[in-house]
Amino acid sequence: MASQNAAHGHDHTPVPLTSSPVTNLSGSISAPGDKSISHRSLLLGAVADGQTRITGLLEADDVMATAGAMRALGANVRKEGDTWLVDGMGNGALLEPTEPLDFGNAGTGSRLAMGLVAGYDFPVTFVGDASLSSRPMGRVLNPLRETGMQVESSEGDRLPLTVHGAPLPTPITYRVPVASAQVKSAVLLAGLNIAGTTTVIEPVMTRDHTEKMLAGFGANISIEVDEDGARHISVEGQTPLKAQDVTVPCDPSSSSFAVVAGLITPGSDLTIQNVLLNPTRTGLFDTLKEMGADLTIANHRTSGGEDIGDIRVRHSKLKGVTVPADRAPSMIDEYPVLAVAASFAEGETLMLGLDELRVKECDRLAATARGLEANGVDCTEGEDTLTVRGNGSVEGGGTVETLLDHRIAMSFLVMGMASQKPVSVDDTVMINTSFREFVPLMTSIGANLT
Ligand code: S3P
Repeated sequence: MASQNAAHGHDHTPVPLTSSPVTNLSGSISAPGDKSISHRSLLLGAVADGQTRITGLLEADDVMATAGAMRALGANVRKEGDTWLVDGMGNGALLEPTEPLDFGNAGTGSRLAMGLVAGYDFPVTFVGDASLSSRPMGRVLNPLRETGMQVESSEGDRLPLTVHGAPLPTPITYRVPVASAQVKSAVLLAGLNIAGTTTVIEPVMTRDHTEKMLAGFGANISIEVDEDGARHISVEGQTPLKAQDVTVPCDPSSSSFAVVAGLITPGSDLTIQNVLLNPTRTGLFDTLKEMGADLTIANHRTSGGEDIGDIRVRHSKLKGVTVPADRAPSMIDEYPVLAVAASFAEGETLMLGLDELRVKECDRLAATARGLEANGVDCTEGEDTLTVRGNGSVEGGGTVETLLDHRIAMSFLVMGMASQKPVSVDDTVMINTSFREFVPLMTSIGANLT
């Protein structure tokens, strides 16, 4: 694994933080814009004809890296008032960048951008921080190589690397071997500038933002489900895309920190507004309800083709459950905070099918287990499982290693709000990659973060 010092200009001085127990959390808040939709609105805006206008864009480091990359590829991306404007280059008309695209910590931005440029006959270099430089890129590079794209990397399909699309790329049909929306999306975005039909076969459904948004931007896209339930998503290449007005709903993954905080902290009553409730993203909320959470949705509505609602949570006595493997894609980023909820539950929570957690911003399965242990929680880390044995309360008192992972940091700060002793994390700087407002927002509802 690359050391932090080997990363490209991303060394930072860690900023530790301690979360101390509070008597209750109350109020009404909203999380920032959805990260997945934010990345995609910039990527698609860059290759559409005309001006895409985005409101509610997540202004966090990961998405700003994607904005920078789209500028480097020729698109004019800027903010006016509350609206982000992207003057698109048109499909097939991106320009060769003069410098490496620096994606920082952003796995989604980098992998989707590799797909977006795969059909262009020019070199593009990708760099990132130590965490991103240790993550596997072969999962997107391998299908993209089938189009004729060349890859140069000294680190075995890890960043830094340079890709160079073929002069006449071949459209491919690709069956995604892991449940990954990033892999699906990279191949579909590559297909935009490849003559002919590019097809992705997805045996297990993952978040469907790319398909939905491609349709919204006027791509010629079709989806069929075969007799085994696999989705066949086909996009016709080299057809024009049309700029759109995008309203980004609030991120359910970011909202989940406040949701769990409200459930585990006695006396709490919280409302988290305007949460994206796309069914490919709501596995955590379903699981918490099975655990006995007092979690209700008000104001359920549809906007921009997406389900949205306000989530109200009140402190609840939770019980352990088994979380089936087939639910993992719909809550893949939420296991660390689910593990925190499970620590406060009575009984055993068994989480299955967690292999993908090992290749996130850090090895999240190991990092979560170590964080639980540091705070006196009885747990077992299996190869692709996590078992948490709760007894209704958590001792706390530990310091958690966050390993450049924003969600590990936020999850354990949530734990400290309801544990007997404070919980510390060794670094909070990475929270800026997805949720800059986390500390002030949680403080505004009663958290004690110092
Ligand atoms: C994302 C897909 C998921 C998720 C990530 C965002 C996306 O990754 O973990 O935070 O926007 O497509 P995988 O596709 O690798 O599971």
